[in-house]
Amino acid sequence: MIRMFPFIRFLLIAAALSGASVYAQRANAAGADLFARHCVACHQADGEGIPGLAPPLVGALKKVAELDQGRTYIAHVLISGMAGTIKTRGGKFTGAMPSQAALSDHELAAIASYVLTTFNASPVVLQPEGFAALRSKPLPPAEVRKLREQVLAQVGGQ
Ligand code: HEC
Repeated sequence: MIRMFPFIRFLLIAAALSGASVYAQRANAAGADLFARHCVACHQADGEGIPGLAPPLVGALKKVAELDQGRTYIAHVLISGMAGTIKTRGGKFTGAMPSQAALSDHELAAIASYVLTTFNASPVVLQPEGFAALRSKPLPPAEVRKLREQVLAQVGGQ
């Protein structure tokens, strides 16, 4: 029994790790499906956006997602929406992103994590709790754009 112990411990650790990666894969598959239903009309399936309608998400959020305030910003775009002129990879862009608050915290977390992983090669995964916390204090869409400026100033642009 004593000699078996390290082996059992190995199995438990392996189970915990593979469980975590199965969770991440499921969340990503759910995120892909939700993105296709709620975001593709504007941001397009490849995340490159449409000139004049929606900005590109590809390469826009990797550095942003590394900051606490950046993750808050991403969550706010989804909960509160965003409006006004922003500078993106493709130059200046003026539009309005509608709030996606009709989606659940789990759905928003899955979509945001899909956008980060797939379009930004980011290892960051957003948690549902972060969205739940912001729901009670949404920002006016123009304030979300100011938050974006503050975050980009800290990371030196996209
Ligand atoms: C009706 C069109 C539309 C839909 C649907 C839409 N967006 Fe947007 N999105 C926009 C516009 C327009 C902006 C830029 C707003 C601005 O100019 O202030 C934007 C901005 C963003 C940004 C900020 C990008 C940056 O460079 O900081 C993210 C992230 C984003 N959208 C994600 C999503 C996700 C995820 C979904 C689906 C849940 C979605 N959007 C649905 C139009 C849309």
